[in-house]
Amino acid sequence: MRTSASLLVGSLAAALLLFVVGGSASPFYPPHHHLDPRTPTSRAIHPVDNFTAPARFPKDAFEGFYSYPKAFETEPRPKVIDAKTGKPFPDLLAGPILPNLPPASDAVFPKPGPGSKNAPEDLAAQIQKNITAIIADASLSNCSKCINSLKLGQQLAALKPRDVPGVLQNLCKQFKYSPATTAVNATENCNRVYAPQTLGAMYAQVLRYADLEGDMPSDGQYICSYVYKNKACPTPAPLTLDQNFLNGWFGSKSKRDEIVKREALVHEDEAHKRTGEAWLDKRGNKKMFRVAHLSDIHVDPRFLVGAEAGCTTGQCCRADSFNSTLASGPPMPQGTLPNPANRSQEAYYWGNYKCDAPWSLAMSALQSVTPLNGEREVDMSLYTGDMVVHDAPFHISDDLVRYTQQSIFDSMKRYFGKGPVFSAIGNHDTAPSDSSAPRDLPPEAVNAFSYDWENLQRLFVAEGWFTHKEAKQVATHYGGYSVSPRKGLRIITVNSDFWYKSNVYNFINTTNPDASGMLRWLTDELIQSEARGERVWIVGHVLTGWDGTNPLANPTNLFYQIVDHFSPKTIAHIFLGHTHEDQFNVFYANNASSKATVNAKAVSFIGPSVTPLTNVNPSIRYYTVDPETYSVMDIDQYYAQAQGFPELPKAQQGLTWQHLYSARSTYGNFSASAADANGFAGPVKLDAGGMWPAAAPLNATFWSQLTYEMEKRPELMKTFTTYQGRNSPKTKPCNDECTTAKICYMRSGSAPIGLQCPQGFGSVQS
Ligand SMILES: *[C@@H]1O[C@H](CO)[C@@H](O)[C@H](O)[C@H]1NC(C)=O
Ligand SMILES: *[C@@H]1O[C@H](CO)[C@@H](O)[C@H](O)[C@H]1NC(C)=O
Ligand SMILES: *[C@@H]1O[C@H](CO)[C@@H](O)[C@H](O)[C@H]1NC(C)=O
Ligand SMILES: *[C@@H]1O[C@H](CO)[C@@H](O)[C@H](O)[C@H]1NC(C)=O
Ligand SMILES: *[C@@H]1O[C@H](CO)[C@@H](O)[C@H](O)[C@H]1NC(C)=O
Ligand SMILES: *[C@@H]1O[C@H](CO)[C@@H](O)[C@H](O)[C@H]1NC(C)=O
Ligand SMILES: *[C@@H]1O[C@H](CO)[C@@H](O)[C@H](O)[C@H]1NC(C)=O
Ligand SMILES: *[C@@H]1O[C@H](CO)[C@@H](O)[C@H](O)[C@H]1NC(C)=O
Ligand SMILES: *[C@@H]1O[C@H](CO)[C@@H](O)[C@H](O)[C@H]1NC(C)=O
Ligand SMILES: *[C@@H]1O[C@H](CO)[C@@H](O)[C@H](O)[C@H]1NC(C)=O
Repeated sequence: MRTSASLLVGSLAAALLLFVVGGSASPFYPPHHHLDPRTPTSRAIHPVDNFTAPARFPKDAFEGFYSYPKAFETEPRPKVIDAKTGKPFPDLLAGPILPNLPPASDAVFPKPGPGSKNAPEDLAAQIQKNITAIIADASLSNCSKCINSLKLGQQLAALKPRDVPGVLQNLCKQFKYSPATTAVNATENCNRVYAPQTLGAMYAQVLRYADLEGDMPSDGQYICSYVYKNKACPTPAPLTLDQNFLNGWFGSKSKRDEIVKREALVHEDEAHKRTGEAWLDKRGNKKMFRVAHLSDIHVDPRFLVGAEAGCTTGQCCRADSFNSTLASGPPMPQGTLPNPANRSQEAYYWGNYKCDAPWSLAMSALQSVTPLNGEREVDMSLYTGDMVVHDAPFHISDDLVRYTQQSIFDSMKRYFGKGPVFSAIGNHDTAPSDSSAPRDLPPEAVNAFSYDWENLQRLFVAEGWFTHKEAKQVATHYGGYSVSPRKGLRIITVNSDFWYKSNVYNFINTTNPDASGMLRWLTDELIQSEARGERVWIVGHVLTGWDGTNPLANPTNLFYQIVDHFSPKTIAHIFLGHTHEDQFNVFYANNASSKATVNAKAVSFIGPSVTPLTNVNPSIRYYTVDPETYSVMDIDQYYAQAQGFPELPKAQQGLTWQHLYSARSTYGNFSASAADANGFAGPVKLDAGGMWPAAAPLNATFWSQLTYEMEKRPELMKTFTTYQGRNSPKTKPCNDECTTAKICYMRSGSAPIGLQCPQGFGSVQS
């Protein structure tokens, strides 16, 4: 996600501070014996409490280095071999010296429409002049000004698309509508942001194809509400998905009724739904299955040790970072370090709270995944998106995306070993960031992203995770795919850009809740999975609900109905990321008309980030999974305390990753709420002392009831909030108002449901 690198709240809660020093790394093998082969166990089995990763950057992690630190004075600059060309990506691509612009070849313009041959030479100048007149017209509302200007922009995009970026640059300078996003001045910023290869050509695509007919066209309103950040021009009301629509979506009324009936049968006792095979160790005892979940690494290969980490504009810890209260501008020449007197906070070798992950931190996390699992390779891994750094649009390029994918996937392969990695596209894993084009657009617009989907296809095969046939889908499903890695389990990965509010291509065809066809495909896959009796894990990036501020209403409203229909029998779990925080969402029957636990149908886990941006601690998570039901039996969360990072180089120490909590031990006591009207009212018979049954999975029933338990025991919300930022000393406590709001977010799996909650308490990052 794009977090505002602005506010720094004073440090607090000294009690939370856990300075990381030392720690032992004794390899310890988890006891898999003594388990009843037919009964899933749930005993806390996390193999190790902590692991201290090597202090030195692993020299064998890459083919070579353009630069390798002697100690901790700089970050390494690895030579990453591009699987496409067999050659290393150039040093300049990801070194600390920042590019002014992406390569010109990144620009993909729409084809001109009819009449373009006869368009006047000075069309761009006329249109700019007429837009200026519209903006000066006091009789028009801001919303009308915006929509009327878009209409003129559309004329230009249809007749002379290559002139669109120039007009955007000029208007940007004239009306100062683009605040500086980095350490360059406003004029230069306008020139770079709207250059063809940055956002200019893409905006020409959107102008060309959005429907702008009539007074208040839906597409136009979406664009203008985005431009005005929801003020001055309202977002259109969400579409109504009526019974006719929904019957049609699931085939017909009778087909839909059948799905609902079959799924409801299993709700009675989900534990009997065994689609996989018991997994026995040498002694014939049932083994659990361990899955690592990482999210939002956001590796910053341009991280410069010693740069300004408390910068006032743009991305911090960079050659061009500065804090305007202490320095008049970036250090000159580029790449020199600021004078300590002109720097508010030093960029540390292991990373900072306001910066993305340097190579040292990203690699420490990847290196620790197997040791933290007791030196046993995990059985598989989930990656819920966002590998690429947060940055000004003109620092992101197709090649930077491919470099990041190549280096992270190669490293995952090296350190995770046998288990495949199932990875979803995040909004930052494209160039430009946040964007993916729907398939109905003309081929050149759709193909502007082929380099990305094809790169993933190539890498998933090269790492040995996919067959060629499986990988083929990746190129035609926006980076998504549907695969069955084990008997009875299916993993369906979706590109959540199509429900992300900042993907500008979503402003084309806004009266269609599924303009990309992605939800149609997901539904068809689920229909087939249901027929085959599989259990499905849906993997994506942007959350579909929580406070409703990140996703779009229409696609997530439809997604919610899909989840309702195929849960709990077919959809076992949903894994997402994006917010950088440890969160979850419960989905209820009938569009949450009642949020009583008995109506809970599905849960999505929102996996916390590896990047410490902003003010959170780096995180690694594991699921203990029953190999017969593919249900999550427990979550083990680990983290590294970034507060202690500055001290480590002096002590020649690497990062200590320590156990934060097990979900079952932390949240599994329901004694305060079990007897409530909103309680289980079903087959769940709690164990002694009010504990969640040892044999029951951590399914939607568990997570819904946790929200009712939190109402009775607000101290649980304190714990949850501490864990949301993984013991970060920057996390503010959650008061009563916040507790009420967050309980509401937890019960909100779509944007329209989340937006009904009190706003302003979604994040611990401020
Ligand atoms: C690491 O784990 C060991 C063994 O459980 C424990 O003694 C030690 O205190 C832990 N260290 C940290 C930093 O948590
Ligand atoms: C710009 O406005 C002028 C004056 O209203 C009009 O004659 C001209 O056709 C407009 N040009 C375009 C491209 O809309
Ligand atoms: C803005 O920055 C550019 C490039 O660094 C420079 O050429 C230009 O003179 C600057 N303009 C102002 C007004 O400072
Ligand atoms: C219209 O936009 C201008 C410029 O951004 C702003 O100053 C003004 O307050 C807006 N008016 C309304 C009614 O929102
Ligand atoms: C900029 O520096 C000042 C003075 O050290 C500091 O108070 C402020 O927090 C810094 N800004 C940021 C965004 O870190
Ligand atoms: C650094 O700080 C000093 C003292 O406040 C100031 O005189 C100088 O101009 C600053 N240098 C830069 C590059 O801003
Ligand atoms: C809008 O959606 C419809 C229906 O899916 C499709 O036929 C049409 O091509 C789309 N328009 C654009 C500009 O993508
Ligand atoms: C969760 O598991 C319990 C215990 O097996 C079961 O009774 C309940 O129906 C399950 N809930 C869902 C939503 O699958
Ligand atoms: C669960 O919490 C209650 C108090 O809320 C306590 O009495 C009970 O002992 C706890 N159960 C277990 C197994 O710790
Ligand atoms: C679900 O509820 C939300 C919030 O009230 C509403 O906006 C949406 O239209 C509803 N969806 C359906 C399919 O009824």
